[in-house]
Amino acid sequence: MAALFTPFTLKNVTLRNRIAVPPMCQYSAIDGVVSDWHLSHYQSIARGGAGLVIVEATAVSPEGRITPNCTGLWNDTQVKGMAQIAAGIKAAGAVPGIQIAHAGRKASANVPWEGDEHIAEGDAKGWQPIAPSAIAFGQGLPRVPTEMTLEDIARVKNDFVAAARRALEAGFEWLELHFAHGYLAQSFFSAYSNQRTDAYGGNFDNRARFLLETLAAVRQVWPEQLPLTARFGVIEYDGKDEETISESIELIRQMHACGLDMLSVSVNFVIPEVQIPWGTEAFLAPIAERVRREAGLPVASSWSMDDPHTAERLIAEQHMDLVMIGRAHLANPHYPLQMAQALGLENPTSILPTQYAHWLSRYKGPGKTAAQ
Ligand SMILES: Cc1cc2nc3c(=O)[nH]c(=O)nc-3n(C[C@H](O)[C@H](O)[C@H](O)COP(=O)(O)O)c2cc1C
Repeated sequence: MAALFTPFTLKNVTLRNRIAVPPMCQYSAIDGVVSDWHLSHYQSIARGGAGLVIVEATAVSPEGRITPNCTGLWNDTQVKGMAQIAAGIKAAGAVPGIQIAHAGRKASANVPWEGDEHIAEGDAKGWQPIAPSAIAFGQGLPRVPTEMTLEDIARVKNDFVAAARRALEAGFEWLELHFAHGYLAQSFFSAYSNQRTDAYGGNFDNRARFLLETLAAVRQVWPEQLPLTARFGVIEYDGKDEETISESIELIRQMHACGLDMLSVSVNFVIPEVQIPWGTEAFLAPIAERVRREAGLPVASSWSMDDPHTAERLIAEQHMDLVMIGRAHLANPHYPLQMAQALGLENPTSILPTQYAHWLSRYKGPGKTAAQ
């Protein structure tokens, strides 16, 4: 039996295997409400056999969207479509998860197929982003955000709590806080983007405050028996890697003490001038393994870990507890089946829902089954 296809239990939730689909924005919502595309997309991927399917970065407020077409959970109207998605994922045997997010200074961008960069100031499609400090990301995201007041900070924390409540109401069983990728939370923790002089900026404790307070507030409403996780960048690739990783691990320890059940290890993406080793397969795996060991909590990670033998090794050698497989699922929603075949599972189709597995395990060739 491949380690990749062993179950994983966190709190009261058991995943059928160690393959997770990470959040992937579809940029196909209107006013934060999901569309038929989302239903089709998530259901087909969930049928493919992954243990966990995490719905894309879903904004906790309108100004927290990356683009005008991002999904949201800032009002009750948005819950119905999300409930259909969660039910569809569950019907296919996967656990439905969702990532809730605030894009901070990276908000108000065009959808990727229209350019990815900030919407021009003055264009009615866009809006004014907010962030810890009035410092722009740069490159294609040059818009200078408005520095958040203490009232803004309190409101956004409440927005995370309200979105978590709605996610629960919609039927999600796994919540991921988006604390990564240079969006709002990550930009509070990074000194590059946070130059505040009040209790939310400056030393470690102050830069960590927004993340810890948000997590603690969400934990109050997210049931204790359900996993509360976060995605967090632990490395910027700016030449100061050891400093950033060890500081991040200290924060993860504190988040764990505040009720975080698992961490999805990722990249900071706070500044554009960095050297990310994109060409190296599973480049984050050694860092994820270190976080797992030093922070003492289960971890997941992603970025080019989709080779079946690599994914199997990462689980078997306990580098991580779950492997996130993103783009390979877009190319083939049944990618876990392909992995099971490549790893030589005795009955690979058994990883699929029974409605498919029953027939495929008898399939001998085009138009013929053992039953015929
Ligand atoms: C279309 C697309 C949308 C994405 N949207 C998100 C997102 O909403 N939240 C997030 O944390 N990461 C997002 N990512 C990053 C993925 O979760 C994942 O980390 C990345 O695709 C690398 O994994 P892979 O090499 O298996 O594709 C996105 C990636 C893609 C390709």
